[in-house]
Amino acid sequence: MKQVKLDTIIQGLQNRGIKGADAAVILGSGLGDFAAMLENRQDIPYAEIDDMPTVSVAGHAGTFHYGTIGGKTVLAFGGRFHSYEGYPQEVTLALVHITHRLGIKKLIISNAAGGITSRLQVGDLLLITDCMGPNLSYGLRGTPKVTHRFDNVPLRSRILKLAASEGITLQHGTYLYVSGPTYETKAEIRAFRIMGADVVGMSTAPELVEATRLGILTIGLTLVTNMATGVSSGKLDHSEVKETAESRKDDFGRLVSRLIQESFD
Ligand code: HPA
Repeated sequence: MKQVKLDTIIQGLQNRGIKGADAAVILGSGLGDFAAMLENRQDIPYAEIDDMPTVSVAGHAGTFHYGTIGGKTVLAFGGRFHSYEGYPQEVTLALVHITHRLGIKKLIISNAAGGITSRLQVGDLLLITDCMGPNLSYGLRGTPKVTHRFDNVPLRSRILKLAASEGITLQHGTYLYVSGPTYETKAEIRAFRIMGADVVGMSTAPELVEATRLGILTIGLTLVTNMATGVSSGKLDHSEVKETAESRKDDFGRLVSRLIQESFD
């Protein structure tokens, strides 16, 4: 496995004129169309930046999108690195570290996930208020222990009000991280519900924890693309994820755009 050389990646981005931004956005499965909302957009394939890892999953293009929205500069990552692709943590957290190294102070992390709680429906957008995982320690080995992990409760009501003012229904809840790539068993989902999880997915939680540790204002957004195993009948597959994302991309884009405009201090 090639090492992530952040210095080379940052240099490569700076050479292309990307020296910072007001906000960064990690675009989850099927949510990459947000990039089309950026004005004066520059698209840079990950492969054009030396030492940048490349993406292997359908629905993730592997492109940096740099542009503006409502006058704010934005760096959007179209495509992330999952541990189920075989990447070590150093790679799965690379987008957070790039955000940090560029001095970007706000990060919106999005994902597709399965709904566990029965109050949720396919197509719901959800604000992640807290997260958990079977392996509850995230972050790179060798970094200091921290007590503050990720907890969005202080911001919750502001973000929910902001969504309501846009006419967007936004749920909120706890995201449970699994490493994948297989979907869960029914027994696991039953257990996760008892543990207090509302949605389950294969990304985001490690990124939320690491970005918070680095002092970045971090917001996690989930699109419920399917109900988790056993919650509703039928088999799960990746095409369902993409179809649902397609149907909710406008609301998602408006919400992200408002979150970028808002100053949360
Ligand atoms: N489980 C895990 N990850 C997912 C799911 C799911 O049901 N849907 C989208 N990502």
